[in-house]
Amino acid sequence: MVVRRELLRGLERLNATTAVLQRARLADPLGGMWEAADVQWWWRRPCTTDELALPVWFDEAGPVAAAGLTAWDDTWQADVFAVPSIVRDEEVWAATLEATAGHRGVALQVLVGADDAPLAGLAIQSGFTMTAELSGTSWMDATQRPPVAPVDGFAVVDRVASGNRPHPMIARNGELVEPRLRQCSLYDPTLGLAVEDADGKVAGYALFWFDHTTLVGLLEPMRVEDDFQRRGLARMLLTEGLDRLARKGAGRLKVGFETDAARSLYLGAGFVQTSVDRLLIRPAPHERTSTTT
Ligand SMILES: CC(C)(COP(=O)(O)OP(=O)(O)OC[C@H]1O[C@@H](n2cnc3c(N)ncnc32)[C@H](O)[C@@H]1OP(=O)(O)O)[C@@H](O)C(=O)NCCC(=O)NCCS
Repeated sequence: MVVRRELLRGLERLNATTAVLQRARLADPLGGMWEAADVQWWWRRPCTTDELALPVWFDEAGPVAAAGLTAWDDTWQADVFAVPSIVRDEEVWAATLEATAGHRGVALQVLVGADDAPLAGLAIQSGFTMTAELSGTSWMDATQRPPVAPVDGFAVVDRVASGNRPHPMIARNGELVEPRLRQCSLYDPTLGLAVEDADGKVAGYALFWFDHTTLVGLLEPMRVEDDFQRRGLARMLLTEGLDRLARKGAGRLKVGFETDAARSLYLGAGFVQTSVDRLLIRPAPHERTSTTT
């Protein structure tokens, strides 16, 4: 039974959302789109939605649902984070949209799993339309992980070993990426990997997240720089990271993907796709008006 609803912002909301997603995962091993580590990864750079006061629902054991709004470069992502069957998705969805009401000119997006017809229905009723943009979710049992696959001339270095050098994700994620990641309860610098050539040049990076509560290990993000692609470096990072996750105690491993290259990389390593996910969007109000006149 839900006993109260509070408005939370900033790290407090991130931590409450983490607890919701961990409980949701314990309740359903495959359900829902996101892990707690996903929302922690979104925290890596400051954004305008951080300080919005959004509702979080609690029962006697802790947080059970949270409205989600995350500002990306040109859209805000809306999310319903909820332990199944405690708070109605409709209520969380309505509160999420209500929180956008004072922010004119904001386009919204929501990512919906193929098995989540109710959320897709709510979004469509609220003026969202389906796009052709598909992505995927995949899982693997940690005992099925592939052997570590080194590449001659390259070494994997974690953030503990490279901590005296600039963080490899600064170029794409901003100067604050490291302090922001360090604010996240699930961030572990021994799982922040870069692959370097013999001169110490960073050729790619990947961040793995071990969730002690759910025993899920997540990969997010993964990148190999253009000049270094197709040499097995993503496979090197992936196999090393999955091995580290398993050795920390992860029982199940998860990764999502948006491109064919990433899909081949992950399915080729033994991940099994469990969901096709679809992006729905709602243009900013003034854009909607202009398309109808
Ligand atoms: C996806 C990405 C990480 C692959 O890096 P990479 O170092 O080139 O990959 P590898 O050389 O280790 O390739 C391993 C496997 O991945 C798949 N793969 C990699 N690049 C591919 C491509 N362009 N097209 C199709 N499959 C590809 C193949 O299955 C490949 O195995 P193979 O070489 O035996 O055919 C890289 O292209 C990248 O950083 N892209 C931009 C960011 C991104 O999409 N990240 C993934 C987000 S989930």
